[in-house]
Amino acid sequence: MLKNKRIILGISGSLRAQSFNTHLLKFTLQRIAQNNNVTVKIANLNLPLFNEDIENSTGIPSNVLKLAEDIRGADSVVISTPEYNKNLPGVLKNALDWVSRVKPQPWSGKPIIIMSAASGQSGGERAQNSLRLCLAPFDPILYFSPEVAIPDASNAFDRENIPKSKIIRDKIEKQISKLKAHLE
Ligand SMILES: Cc1cc2nc3c(=O)[nH]c(=O)nc-3n(C[C@H](O)[C@H](O)[C@H](O)COP(=O)(O)O)c2cc1C
Repeated sequence: MLKNKRIILGISGSLRAQSFNTHLLKFTLQRIAQNNNVTVKIANLNLPLFNEDIENSTGIPSNVLKLAEDIRGADSVVISTPEYNKNLPGVLKNALDWVSRVKPQPWSGKPIIIMSAASGQSGGERAQNSLRLCLAPFDPILYFSPEVAIPDASNAFDRENIPKSKIIRDKIEKQISKLKAHLE
């Protein structure tokens, strides 16, 4: 009997059209889709700024509810985050704050791998650390290694937006393998 397709949700912490994190995310999702029976979805983080007045007057916005449902329905999540001033970007924190208002919250027990691309030499490591702290209250399953952090991002991708470094590509494969059991 054919098994139902698993769902993998990708989240980029950058709204920029030519975002290196979105390139990294799409490459990773493509790699996952090549070896698993999965449907790939990409989340929309273009949400209003969190404001309890919105929640109390018109309710939680429909695009936040959609994001929460996408997270709830996913078998695993991949997040690629930029680093802004040594931390996760506001776009991502804003999304986490909004989604935390949807009950039951959808992150509990959700397997997540995290990666980053940044112009600095640490490749966004600090953004990853701060993102992990921000996710901790929601009790997901966070995988910690190997760490995929791409430095000097503007020189790190080829014309097809694929990471040039084989070391990085191998680390991505190892990270993906952490999700294997959740995508069978
Ligand atoms: C407001 C702002 C703050 C930034 N802070 C950092 C930083 O702390 N560390 C770093 O490596 N790069 C930093 N950068 C550079 C980003 O890594 C770079 O713009 C990257 O391409 C953003 O990710 P994206 O390509 O996915 O949009 C910053 C960029 C902006 C716009």
